[in-house]
This record gives sequence, structure tokens and C-alpha cells, in this order.
Amino acid sequence: MTVRVPAKVNLQLGVGPLRDDGYHDLVNVFHAVSLFDEVTVVPGELSVAVEGASIEGVPATPDNLAGRAARLLAEHLGVEPEVAITIRKEIPVAGGMAGGSADAAAALLACDALWEANLPFATLMELAGTLGSDVPFALLGGTALGLGRGEKLTPLPCSGEFHWVFALADGGLSTPAVYAECDRIRAAHSERVSWPHESPALLAALAEGDAEALGAALANDLQPAALTLRPSLQRTLTAGRDFGALGSLVSGSGPTCAFLAADATHALDLAVALGGVGVARTLVRASGPVPGATLL
Ligand code: C5P
Repeated sequence: MTVRVPAKVNLQLGVGPLRDDGYHDLVNVFHAVSLFDEVTVVPGELSVAVEGASIEGVPATPDNLAGRAARLLAEHLGVEPEVAITIRKEIPVAGGMAGGSADAAAALLACDALWEANLPFATLMELAGTLGSDVPFALLGGTALGLGRGEKLTPLPCSGEFHWVFALADGGLSTPAVYAECDRIRAAHSERVSWPHESPALLAALAEGDAEALGAALANDLQPAALTLRPSLQRTLTAGRDFGALGSLVSGSGPTCAFLAADATHALDLAVALGGVGVARTLVRASGPVPGATLL
């Protein structure tokens, strides 16, 4: 069984106060884009293999989140987690595009098919939520509003197709470290952290398929923290704006930067221009929204 699963970019990431459980309540507008990992499962002793051009730091052991997903599902079904998992990675590692979460979602769906469990989608979503805050969205795909830790999802109306350029950086950023830096910056400025709200301008731009309005409404509360931990990203973001991106922001906890283009041609021009000034390790183009984890 092989499942293809997309990366995500956060169009709005509103971060509320730190909760007692160590998480933050979010207003998280997820958007699935056409950068995919593929996860294949075959019967065998539980193992995880990882293939791809840039896979440094991805554990090739059952501790990989995809292995944990297989164990969780097996436990739920009362079967042995006898599955050999192969992950073919295209989504940047520790890049703020939920690659690890995507692999976990794909493993859940692939094992559900392999073990002929046919669990209801709602049950898979519940299991996904216990694996990580971004895992349910990787199953759902499209464009969706995530509340709570980001796992309480409502699909959002979205017209047309949006075209993106992603600037991949050398090395990743740790998500907990970026959230902790966000808390530190807020405390240092004695900032009263208010409850985040979804942006009406952003939701209208999505519904109308208005790329220019969407570009103006993109917002990420984690961006100042990611920029403090990786100051070179400021140059990347500035270059995108200088080359005419409709909007630019750090994707999730970074360090990938996302640039919104007017159309496919503009995205190509933008990628070429950004490639010429050496502000990223690699530039990739993708469009969204795309479906969530899909059995091939
Ligand atoms: O849920 P997940 O394991 O992906 O979260 C990774 C880390 O990101 C958490 O341990 C926490 O530090 C941070 N996080 C958070 N608030 C969220 C989601 C994640 O603080 N809503």
C-alpha cells in the first residue's frame, strides 16, 4: 500500500497564550500544497526506511512518527504492528511544512488499508490528533481552520488555485524551540497575549480566490521567533518582496519561507529571481490547495 501525502503552509498562524499542558491555543489556517512524501507499507517486522535527497536527521527507526502511527493503529485494532514502512521524502525536513506529521498521517491511512480495518475517517482523525497537532490536517488536506492545538479542523471554502514558491533553508528549526522563543519575546516585551481571531480579510480572499488580497493578509505569529533564531531569513523574505511576491512569510515554525505568486508564470519568474541571489538552499514551486493523504 502506498499513500501520497502533502506538505502544508500556514496562511494565518495566530498563537494564543501558553496553556498549562505546554501547548498554545491557535487560530491556524492550514493550506495543503503540491509537495509530497510517499509512504509505502508491506507486511514484515516493524521497521522504517527513509529515502530522498535531503533526509538528514530523519530517524530510520520505529521511533519515527510514522512508526509510532503504525503502533498506535495496531494497538487500537488489537493486532501486531508487523509492517515495514518506507518513506520517500520530498517535503523539507524540520522545515515548518509538517513533513513528519504528513508521514504519520500517511502511515495511518496505509496501515488501515493493509490491515483491512476500514476505520471511519473520524476515528483516523482522532488517532491522528494524539500523534501530533498537525497530523489530522495532513489526512484532511485542502484548506482548513485549525483551533485548539490545531487539531480541531473545519474545512474552509477556497476558490481556484494559488501558486507558491518555497525557499528551503540549510538545516531545520525545532518547533518547541520556536514556540519557546515566541513566549520569551512576548515576556520580554511584557506583551499581554490576547486570544487570536481568524482574519476576515484572509477568509474572504480564500473564498474569492483573490491572490493579491491573500498575499496582503498572510500572517504568522511565530515569525519573529523564527527570525530571532535564524536572522538570515530576513534577507530571504526581503528578497521575495523585492522581486514582487504578493506576500511572504515564514512557513509555520520555519525555516522554510513561503512566497505567494500571482500565477504559475509569476511563480517561475520569482523562483528564478530568488535563485539568482543566493538567499536559499533550494527553491521549489508548488500550488494549493491539494487533497490530503491519498491511497495510490
Ligand atoms: O503537537 P506536536 O508534537 O507537533 O507539537 C510539537 C511542539 O510544538 C509541542 O511540544 C509544543 O512545544 C509546540 N506546540 C505548541 N502549541 C501548539 C502546537 C505545538 O506549543 N498548538
